Amino acid sequence: MTFRQNYSLKDLNTFGLDVTAKQYASFSSVQELQVLLQLPELDKSNILILGGGSNVLFTQNFDGTVLQNKIEGITITEETGDFTLIEAGGGVLWHDLVLFSIENNLGGIENLSLIPGTVGAAPLQNIGAYGVELKDTFYSLEAVNIASGTVKRFKAEDCGFGYRESIFKKELKGQYIVTHVTLKLSKNPVFNTSYGAIKDTLISMNVQDLSLKAISEAVCSIRKSKLPDPKQIGNAGSFFKNPEISQEDFVQLKAQNPDIPSYPAPGNKVKVPAGWLIERCGWKGKKLENYGVHKDQALVLVNYGGAHGHQIKALAHDIIASVKERFGITLTPEVNIL
Ligand code: EPU
Repeated sequence: MTFRQNYSLKDLNTFGLDVTAKQYASFSSVQELQVLLQLPELDKSNILILGGGSNVLFTQNFDGTVLQNKIEGITITEETGDFTLIEAGGGVLWHDLVLFSIENNLGGIENLSLIPGTVGAAPLQNIGAYGVELKDTFYSLEAVNIASGTVKRFKAEDCGFGYRESIFKKELKGQYIVTHVTLKLSKNPVFNTSYGAIKDTLISMNVQDLSLKAISEAVCSIRKSKLPDPKQIGNAGSFFKNPEISQEDFVQLKAQNPDIPSYPAPGNKVKVPAGWLIERCGWKGKKLENYGVHKDQALVLVNYGGAHGHQIKALAHDIIASVKERFGITLTPEVNIL
């Protein structure tokens, strides 16, 4: 196995940014990864693991080694009374795993339909949508330690999951490569339609009998109506996290903005939609040269083709500044800016 030099990442990031990596290699098994990690030419101080590249903004060429996880395979590993454990390789496309679960009538991730990216990247930011997060069905993962090459299994309680957070973005950042993820899915699905838009979409789709497939189709339809398809318009989904503020700050905010949507958050906090704040600052649909803010979802920054990452980063800074000035809230990027 060898490294490629000055490797184009244009097709490996959903923003479609035209950047290169100093070194690049892919791996299709744990063993291949372990071999790569022992090659003397590998600079272990600057490694980036790419799955689908759907949560990264490159502002310059990457001056290190990109390792792409191409471990495939979905296996049912255990059946208990009401649950089935399924293990998937880190390189499996997340939506393919969702489709597998629906075909096998296993419930729990149907609300996470059509999230771009790979299974291996999903635990890093505890992906979530429409009232469900990965952590709700997560059972365990296997990861390779970059320094030692050894394999370690992490159970849910080891992963420090939070809102778009995990231990792999914090204390263990840059130390492990997730190779396999195991989920615990239900043979007797409980449908989660609490997210308003799902109910409305199911009604407009004229669904009589709820099923995993119907919910998945409703979620796909909502996502397609709001979120740009990265194959057509470069983007990385939500660029910012939804901020969580104190009850006191929320009362003040609500007094000045009676129509602001809100959701309860852990720790007696209140989550407010960043998309709403950004729209109120006048950014929704704003186009600057060949990049801008998506017209249907202000939380999504887009590259219409040929933009530079540093331009999108500057736009993000301007958005943060104007939301801060108008609402006193500091937005945090969800996307990994490199
Ligand atoms: N809103 C606006 N203007 C906008 C966008 C949103 O006023 O331009 C308002 C909506 O009207 C709604 C509220 O904000 O009242 C929430 O909007 P939406 O349901 O579209 O969800 P979101 O909070 O903007 C989050 C996730 C998405 C996920 C959706 C659905 C984050 C950072 N984003 O977005 O995740 O798909 O909920 O559950 O939590 C992603 O992480 O990449 C992502 C797309």
